[in-house]
Amino acid sequence: MNILHVCANPKPISESASKQLAAAFFAKLVELNPDAEITNVDLYQDPPPFLSYDAIRGSWFPVYIDGYTATKEELTHLEYADLQSVVFNGADVLVLTLPMWNFSVPAILKAWIDQVFTPGRAFEVLKDKGILPKHKIQKMVLLVASGGAYKEGDERDSLTTQIESLFAWIGIRDISIAWADGQDVFLFDDSEQRKLFAREAAEELAEEVSSGIFAS
Ligand SMILES: Cc1cc2nc3c(=O)[nH]c(=O)nc-3n(C[C@H](O)[C@H](O)[C@H](O)COP(=O)(O)O)c2cc1C
Repeated sequence: MNILHVCANPKPISESASKQLAAAFFAKLVELNPDAEITNVDLYQDPPPFLSYDAIRGSWFPVYIDGYTATKEELTHLEYADLQSVVFNGADVLVLTLPMWNFSVPAILKAWIDQVFTPGRAFEVLKDKGILPKHKIQKMVLLVASGGAYKEGDERDSLTTQIESLFAWIGIRDISIAWADGQDVFLFDDSEQRKLFAREAAEELAEEVSSGIFAS
């Protein structure tokens, strides 16, 4: 089973609650599945470019213009998307590690999604059938940390709504979350406790992923 781990956090693990969740998740996962194949993509080590006009033309024009073939220059602008979509399409499970920034995902993660979510990469677009996924991801895990605490449905939380809408669009609906909320120590005197609970939740998700997928 292949797990793709995309980390969108520039902080060292000692200062990052979400990275600590990831450490707990993967420690448990590897303990239960020593043979799990994990591919790590650290977006701050290998940053995605912003989608260029050439990349848009090269990926979308062949969908809408009969007989259009991407030019060499356009294909150059799609090299990052091509490389990332190979690991994306090879994964059975996708794990995203990220902080909440300005009520949403870090821009670097959105830039990665903009690259991978292009026709011919994570999906095909067919005139009569719409979006056809090329990936085989069955399960997604979000490992998130935030300064504030958000009840389900809080309209300020555009992180989970954005991720859920985007990935549902390409056929991924099974998304579980371990969330270290309340990490702002000025606002919450139980930040450490919240992080501990979230770490336990991350370990439980590793067990769930293991029993749900690896056991089959
Ligand atoms: C640029 C920036 C924007 C942030 N925006 C929010 C926010 O909108 N809502 C929130 O609850 N916390 C916000 N925070 C706080 C972080 O979510 C919090 O520090 C969290 O622990 C970050 O995850 P990490 O510990 O894994 O880095 C923000 C922090 C930074 C640096």
